[in-house]
Amino acid sequence: MSDKLPLVRLSFATFVTEGSPTRLFRMLEASKLTKRYNAVIALDALDLLVEPGQIYCLLGPNGAGKTTTINLFLGFIRPDGGTARVNGQDVASHSVETKKDLAYIPEQVNLYRSLTGLENLEFFTGLAGHDYPRDKLLEFLLAAGLPGGAADQRVGAYSKGMRQKVGIAIALAKNAKALLLDEPTSGLDPLASYEFSQLLRQLAKEKVAILMTTHDLFRAKEVGSVIGIMRRGTLVTTMSTEQFSHTDMEKIYLEYMK
Ligand SMILES: Nc1ncnc2c1ncn2[C@@H]1O[C@H](COP(=O)(O)OP(=O)(O)O)[C@@H](O)[C@H]1O
Ligand SMILES: [Mg+2]
Repeated sequence: MSDKLPLVRLSFATFVTEGSPTRLFRMLEASKLTKRYNAVIALDALDLLVEPGQIYCLLGPNGAGKTTTINLFLGFIRPDGGTARVNGQDVASHSVETKKDLAYIPEQVNLYRSLTGLENLEFFTGLAGHDYPRDKLLEFLLAAGLPGGAADQRVGAYSKGMRQKVGIAIALAKNAKALLLDEPTSGLDPLASYEFSQLLRQLAKEKVAILMTTHDLFRAKEVGSVIGIMRRGTLVTTMSTEQFSHTDMEKIYLEYMK
């Protein structure tokens, strides 16, 4: 796996499993990451790692610190302690560089309603320094699952699922190495949510590291490789989705919420 990746710009650690060295790529890494708002500790010494190709789903009740985590990786807010690294670089001191490797999909993808999907994609990829021809922009929108014909419609007429797809197209066009998503599927109908998960899987296959917050345990189990449960600014447990059934996960989640 690691031989096919562009090694040059990635930082990695090496550890040994049963005598064979395995490279662990730290695409998104939080180390003792801490954020306070006056008396409130929004995030308390969080350690978290997302490797290329992994989908890490952060679950937890409102106020647990999920959005704070995402915002620290994006450099929207500054930590009070610890570091958030993207592709080996500290976000706090390299926010311009780290943003180049990231794509972000919030609950409501902010697009210009009076522009078409294609024009929005052109605008946002332009901001990231790309100048794609129309054909290429259409290709990204199709790859993101936008129905044919929608590319030239104004975004004001799009469903939420379609706007999320434009968000994915932006991530594809940016060639982002990591994707941060904050409750991207809340409010999507089951089909749109399923389609969205399929897109995330595809991106993971292409070795994008994905960190997603969600309240949807079922979807997290379906799409995720790892689930982390947060509570009051702390990661209380992490689980591999392969090792637990949906029912087990729900039981564990509820146990931690007591
Ligand atoms: N800008 C802010 N000012 C003050 N407190 C905040 C701010 N942003 C978040 N918090 C607090 O930090 C904690 C974590 O919030 P957040 O990361 O948004 O949680 P989640 O996304 O898991 O619902 C909460 O107690 C919240 O009230
Ligand atoms: Mg939140």
